[in-house]
Amino acid sequence: MNKEENKMEKIVSLAKQRGFIYPGSEIYGGLQNSWDYGPLGVELKNNIKQLWWKNFVQSRDDMVGLDAALIMNPKVWEASGHIAGFTDPLVECERCHERFRCDPDSDESTKEMFDHILNKHPETIKSHPKASQSTGFKLIDEETKEIIKKNYTEPKNFNLMLKTFLGPVEDEASVVYFRPETAQAIFVDFKNVLQTSRKTPPFGIAQIGKAFRNEITPGNFIFRTREFEQMEIEYFIPEPKSDKDWEKYFDEWVKNLHEWINLVGIDKDKIHELDVPKDELAHYSKKTIDFEFDFPFGKDELYGLAYRTDFDLKTHEKHSGENTKFRDQQTNEEYWPHVIEPSLGVDRTVLAVLCSAYTEENDRVVLKLKPEIAPYKVAVFPLMRNKPELVKLAREIYDNLRKDFMVAWDDRGNVGKRYYSQDQIGTPSCITVDFDSLEDKTVTIRDRDTMKQERVKIEELGDYLRDKMS
Ligand code: GAP
Repeated sequence: MNKEENKMEKIVSLAKQRGFIYPGSEIYGGLQNSWDYGPLGVELKNNIKQLWWKNFVQSRDDMVGLDAALIMNPKVWEASGHIAGFTDPLVECERCHERFRCDPDSDESTKEMFDHILNKHPETIKSHPKASQSTGFKLIDEETKEIIKKNYTEPKNFNLMLKTFLGPVEDEASVVYFRPETAQAIFVDFKNVLQTSRKTPPFGIAQIGKAFRNEITPGNFIFRTREFEQMEIEYFIPEPKSDKDWEKYFDEWVKNLHEWINLVGIDKDKIHELDVPKDELAHYSKKTIDFEFDFPFGKDELYGLAYRTDFDLKTHEKHSGENTKFRDQQTNEEYWPHVIEPSLGVDRTVLAVLCSAYTEENDRVVLKLKPEIAPYKVAVFPLMRNKPELVKLAREIYDNLRKDFMVAWDDRGNVGKRYYSQDQIGTPSCITVDFDSLEDKTVTIRDRDTMKQERVKIEELGDYLRDKMS
């Protein structure tokens, strides 16, 4: 196991042991790569979502929010092109019928398919000594590709929409889909938002919520799952007269995304922009940049930024028969605004944040999370648990701070062990109440990253913690 694979294992294990993320339905043997966020995970995830909302909605006057239904009229997905075209190529192993997402151009999926044969059906490659020695996809040559071809069915398009039935009758007429992206509700509600918010382009509509995709091969912890959350913005701009007119907004959003990455504490040196080649663009996009991150399992998509033109509003007008255009009150001109879409996965943000924050330093493991998103902002300890006067004062401080912050309490073991435990979950500050505190009304605050300690007046603790987060 190399160092990075090892790091991934350590993060998954820490996430489970400390209550960030557990395997879903675990007591029943799990459910194909589903994950549950535990007490610390839900704090971390909520803090990330709140920071995103504060940064992109609350602090801007060109942005409003939306929280739409998960299940929409199936006509939405016909109009958007999802029913016809939201597919991945799927192949099946001829021997054991295990299914794989097969992108013929991707070394990654070729490797996965070859590894499967190597591990599960080695007898099929015994007669190909060269291929059987291949380890790692760099060695996948024409001969190996032939073996893969012979052992798998031809790729078929598999639709990723997750289906269910609405109402008591389970027939074709009651089939509905769980939304595969939050974006479409924003287009469908565009006219309503326009009328009630009185915004004029350029302005954006933001939404955070669950999305579902029947992924063929979910995996890599919370990286690819069938149920996940997105934070999406559809930013509506005036009808561009030339490429320059949309490019300036697009460039602004590239900058905004880099600032966000910094703000949330993702290691910017591990971010790479991929200008998606023209022939790989989604049907609605004229330009897309994928923001990729060096995850421990390899470089992969973290976020997407797309110029969706006026495709969506136009297609919804065509399919619904309702006018989805914006009318300029000054000129009386009607047009479909064009759209820049920054699309961010919440779970991938959590994973990139954890990978960026996870640090091993001498004998301690530290999650160097930004204080704004750390599950607990501070921990409070009485120096000794068997001294009622210390416990009483510590408890008062704990109760007081809890009115404004998430605060941890720990009175087990010695102070060194408590620091170690709080470092592992990323608590930025630890407060110890000692005998001097009873006299001078000050406490010791220890900083997670520098491990430096200082004395702070009890009455100033709130301001001290607020300062740390600003
Ligand atoms: N509205 C555009 C859209 O949905 P996408 O590239 O398919 O674009 C956007 O998805 C983001 O959603 C991705 O960059 C990723 O962060 C997240 N995402 C997509 N599929 C996911 C999955 N199966 N599991 C976790 N996150 C996913």
